[in-house]
Amino acid sequence: MTDTNQKTRRNSQDKIVIFDTTLRDGEQSPGASMTLSEKLQVAEVLDEMGVDVIEAGFPIASNGDFEAVMEIAKIVKNSVVCGLSRASNKDIDRAGEALAPAKQSRIHTFISTSPLHMKYKLQMEPEAVLEAVTQSVTRARKYTDNVEWSAEDATRTDHDFLCSCVEAAIKAGATTINIPDTVGYTVPEEYYELIKMLIDKVPGADDVILSTHCHNDLGLAVANSLAGVRAGARQIECTINGMGERAGNAALEEVVMGMDTRSDVLPFWTNVDPVHITKASRLVSAVSGFPVQYNKAIVGQNAFAHESGIHQDGMLKNNQTYEIMTPESVGLRASSLVMGKHSGRHAFKEKLKDLGYELGDNAFQEAFQRFKDLADKKKQVFDEDLIALVDDEVSSENAPIKLVSLTVYAGTGGPQKATVTLDVEGEETTRESGGDGPVDAIFNAIRDIVPHEARLPLYQVMAVTEGTDAQADVMVRLEQDGFTATGRSADTDTMVASAKAYIGALNGMIARQEKAVGSNLSAI
Ligand code: KIV
Ligand code: ZN
Repeated sequence: MTDTNQKTRRNSQDKIVIFDTTLRDGEQSPGASMTLSEKLQVAEVLDEMGVDVIEAGFPIASNGDFEAVMEIAKIVKNSVVCGLSRASNKDIDRAGEALAPAKQSRIHTFISTSPLHMKYKLQMEPEAVLEAVTQSVTRARKYTDNVEWSAEDATRTDHDFLCSCVEAAIKAGATTINIPDTVGYTVPEEYYELIKMLIDKVPGADDVILSTHCHNDLGLAVANSLAGVRAGARQIECTINGMGERAGNAALEEVVMGMDTRSDVLPFWTNVDPVHITKASRLVSAVSGFPVQYNKAIVGQNAFAHESGIHQDGMLKNNQTYEIMTPESVGLRASSLVMGKHSGRHAFKEKLKDLGYELGDNAFQEAFQRFKDLADKKKQVFDEDLIALVDDEVSSENAPIKLVSLTVYAGTGGPQKATVTLDVEGEETTRESGGDGPVDAIFNAIRDIVPHEARLPLYQVMAVTEGTDAQADVMVRLEQDGFTATGRSADTDTMVASAKAYIGALNGMIARQEKAVGSNLSAI
């Protein structure tokens, strides 16, 4: 349990800088995509929760990324806003330009240092890489005195060469040195030794912040990050819900709550107020289309659920019997029966606030109308129903394609067909289409209105709550030309949820393709 006395005894050497890269590494997750307005919402929540550094994107990657970093730089109040760049002048200048409006900015420049990456990816000799370290950090320092340098694939790098690169980066003016486990290969003991070795051997390592950036390919990202901190690292790079390339990054909620809950053995502290964790997790899941695994630590639907009789009995006597932290500490309230069709706007607004949502006027009106429709159809509306409904609203707000109406003919008689009306950037179009079942017919009709060649690698239906009147939570993933996007929607009508989820994925594909325009990323 959190020891408040210990909190008051906080000491600056034990402060861990939380560097969130949900909007950069997290957005690189296959299938995840966020629009500009979604990224701004996420940045606002990260800023509010006390994240020290927000990595807002990779400005050279595309015009969309550049714009996102610049717009985030304009709105963030307290966090440092960071932009990623490779070790080239063009990248660094673009990052410097995008970050210009920020109150506090950081340029994060990286280059690979492992023999494998240098030989095959960069096709550079180690001497040239070392030279590039000095040049890139020196260039970045022209824009800001807050410069982070990363040794990509550091955990598979020769130690002497890693020491030389880190020393060169420090000499050139880097203030944070990041040691990524890019491929999620290391184990806690080894990573501990690596960080310790750098602190012991590299001149100047004591004057900079060493940072962890651990991927989760072996499920060790959080354990490795915490081992790095025990060895002397003072920044953790992480993402909400552990999003990120392949198996993802260290999950912010896990590293923060790990240190908060076990401050006896991990005597470190962060600026993050954990009470915002649930809200941030739900928002990121809604806008990225990535559901959170039910048994995910801290933010999974079952993380605080007690099913067995023995556990429930223990909890009733004293909740510490089976709970090492309270759901309230991460902003989760007990699931409850909410309101019925007679509940008014004010009660609905208060309930949303309770669940961690504050919607703009239009989104609120739409959500309220949908709540009323839902309460008409469904006797009992639970928190989970409202969360699904609002997540749907958040992800469809400002989207170019919207569902206007849907009629489906299904059943044993056949032929199954669907009539779909879509609003595509303000213009309504209707098409009727047949298919191999009602879902196929709906997707065919959507494809007639918005022609595209995307494949459907995933179509999944789950129930939001119990009962035959439960909402169906549908997830759809589309894939075309190497781009993937996921859409998710809930409705008491499985066909409506399917149509909306498909449209959500299509909107995501459009955002991904727009983002890729002008992008031509090579190794360096
Ligand atoms: O995993 C990695 O090495 C990265 C770097 C760009 C920091 O994401
Ligand atoms: Zn990474």
